[in-house]
Amino acid sequence: MQLVFATHNKNKAKEIQSIVPNGIQIVTLDDLNCTEDIPETENTLEGNARLKSQFVVDKFKLNCFADDTGLEIEALNGEPGVYSARYAGESCNADRNMQLVLENLSEMENRNAQFRTVISLFWEGETHLFEGVVKGRIVEERRGKDGFGYDPIFEPENCGKTFAEMDLVEKNTLSHRSRALKKMVEFLQNQKN
Ligand code: IMP
Repeated sequence: MQLVFATHNKNKAKEIQSIVPNGIQIVTLDDLNCTEDIPETENTLEGNARLKSQFVVDKFKLNCFADDTGLEIEALNGEPGVYSARYAGESCNADRNMQLVLENLSEMENRNAQFRTVISLFWEGETHLFEGVVKGRIVEERRGKDGFGYDPIFEPENCGKTFAEMDLVEKNTLSHRSRALKKMVEFLQNQKN
């Protein structure tokens, strides 16, 4: 079965392809020759995930899913949250975003945080939402070279290492995205039976 994933991000598609069962082939927007960027204009993860899956439905009338992820930090009232990709403003990149988080937390004792992913699946005429959460803390200094985004400063609970100190297989066993994805896959498997 082919399933459209509303993204241009090949790394994300690869990560997701490695989690879903062999019978599901992930197709990206680029595979559909769609080069448009889908605007993420909602102010919640749920809203943006829905917006992106609906974009594919409107354009291609295909079953599809989209995800949106945020790093939610307790002491920063849930920031950067839905704005995780662009936390440091116009000149943002992963490095600057992490730097800003570390600065904003420099005086804070509470370093609790969680990654949360929401997947919006459009399946046979209906939209379904699935959530995956991994709790942890923001470490004082970056550690590790793997992964992307905030991985070097996020240490999942009871792990003793950051996401960036794990290889992809290890990260996938506990990541927010894989947890949300597993729920979606379970749903799809139940639909087929
Ligand atoms: P997206 O919704 O998956 O594009 O994620 C939004 C932003 O959250 C990304 O640009 C990253 O900064 C951050 N992010 C999402 N997933 C991860 C992850 O697994 N590790 C580290 N940062 C992530």
